Amino acid sequence: MQTETLSLENGELLEFWARGRNLTPHPFRITIDGQTVYSIASLARWFDHFSYRHREAATVTVAWDPEEIEISFAYSYRRETVLRDGITLWQFHADRIERHAGAEIDALLRSDPTRPQCHFSPVVNWMNDPNGLCRIGDDWHLFYQLHPTNTEWGPMHWGHAVSKDLFSWTHLPVFLHPGQNLERLEATGGAFSGTAFRDRDGKLRFYYTERLPAYDLFRHYREIQKIAEPSDDMVVVEGTRVVIEERPAGVEHDFRDPKVWWDAEKNAYRMVLGASIDADPAVLLYGSPCGKVWEYIGPLYRAPDRYKAEGARAVECPDFFRIGDKWVLIMGFVGHNDPATGRHNLLYALTGDFADDRFVPDDDAFQLLDFGTDFYALQSFSAGDRQVAFAWLFNWEYRKPAGSPYSGELSLPRELTLDNRNRLCMNPVTEYGQVWPPVRLSGNDGDYAIANAPFEIALEGLIEGTRIVATQDGDISFEISVAQNMLSITLPQDDGSIRYVALVREDADLRVVHDAGIIEVFAEGGAICGTRRNYRNITPDRLRIDTPATALVCERRRT
Ligand code: FRU
Repeated sequence: MQTETLSLENGELLEFWARGRNLTPHPFRITIDGQTVYSIASLARWFDHFSYRHREAATVTVAWDPEEIEISFAYSYRRETVLRDGITLWQFHADRIERHAGAEIDALLRSDPTRPQCHFSPVVNWMNDPNGLCRIGDDWHLFYQLHPTNTEWGPMHWGHAVSKDLFSWTHLPVFLHPGQNLERLEATGGAFSGTAFRDRDGKLRFYYTERLPAYDLFRHYREIQKIAEPSDDMVVVEGTRVVIEERPAGVEHDFRDPKVWWDAEKNAYRMVLGASIDADPAVLLYGSPCGKVWEYIGPLYRAPDRYKAEGARAVECPDFFRIGDKWVLIMGFVGHNDPATGRHNLLYALTGDFADDRFVPDDDAFQLLDFGTDFYALQSFSAGDRQVAFAWLFNWEYRKPAGSPYSGELSLPRELTLDNRNRLCMNPVTEYGQVWPPVRLSGNDGDYAIANAPFEIALEGLIEGTRIVATQDGDISFEISVAQNMLSITLPQDDGSIRYVALVREDADLRVVHDAGIIEVFAEGGAICGTRRNYRNITPDRLRIDTPATALVCERRRT
């Protein structure tokens, strides 16, 4: 057994996920003056979630058997201070426990040279969609799909973080857990994606999907819609309740990702869900007088035949919101393969009118929201007069190299607007410039030396004929070009079978943000966006820019 003597505060709660290797008894114990106050009698082969609440400030001895116990994520916190101070991360090494209190976690994460600096990523393990975005007072709350025991997707929980500026995050305890321990069932499912909603009596609620224990990744599972009620301090869930269990006729197993709003015209709540109807990707509309009892109104949108034929199985993470007097519907088409370019799981938007429970798009043609495709499961929320959104930077095509302590990052927080053609435009929120102000770099005839920091390229004027090449020790990191109005991003791992391209005006503005392998491109005022996650040569040291446009290159330095 290894031991470590440390002090715990009154009311400190230790949470961790652990499993055993050889089934030896008592592999974990906490004692005070030789008296056991917490002990795990035996560990199973699967991960279980454990928690120990310490009662009074004391010096304790934590004993663990490093040969036996595998701890995937451990942290402690005091309820009274966690919102301000964050969790304390516990790292169990073979011979010691290293603890990092809230503010130090950020520095710890930043010390990993492969971790992006100004983009959100989880402390450890797997993250996917942003969830439950909301603002309470000065605090922005971000929740996210988390698999706390592995760097691969698995039983879903909601991770949680809070920020005053959308960039500096305080990590909080895991918020939502699956209804039961799916690891023990060797099943997947759990607390899937959902959104925050403040109802008519001012109470904040989360609407989300629970996928019941699932033994197949693509079919034969059951998804139900639930409410989670947060505690007043937003740290824990006080209760959950099922609100929709049955699917309408024709709707298959994909039936998830609720977004709720108040419809003043109908004096009732409305909800959209991602699904398929007779195998066509579709968005379902539900209504409720009280937020708890829901009735199916009908399809809000059903995709034309061709998407089913091109492999699209369902809509995921539908978002539906108003900007000015227009309504915007955003949909991820899971399984879809675009025959023209080979890209898959594309994210689309339609802009139109919504009245009397009917959504009428201005145009049948989708606006492709991201031509790079590593931008999915977008979730937006209205914050004052802004519609702010995050998306998950992933498309299943490429993985983070093995050995990374985590997987998954979110986009820069973006503000959503409509341009004069009613195209949805996405641009980094203004806080980006405040927290990460630009420092101009001077180049030599299109050549720039880049330090190991996030950087940005802004082009104004004629962009046709532009070629931007970033290299690390002479090896390509990424290439962005505009040729015959075609804007494209190429990475070293691309074999040419998929084309990451978009048509742009030849005199458009073009902005490229780079952060340790994350490339976010914004053109035509943000109406054309492309995001890619590169895992090779992610710290370029040189930029070569050939363009007829005026180029401005900046490094981003944190204030
Ligand atoms: C999208 C998605 C959602 C689902 C969640 C599960 O990435 O598949 O539809 O709720 O992820 O983790």
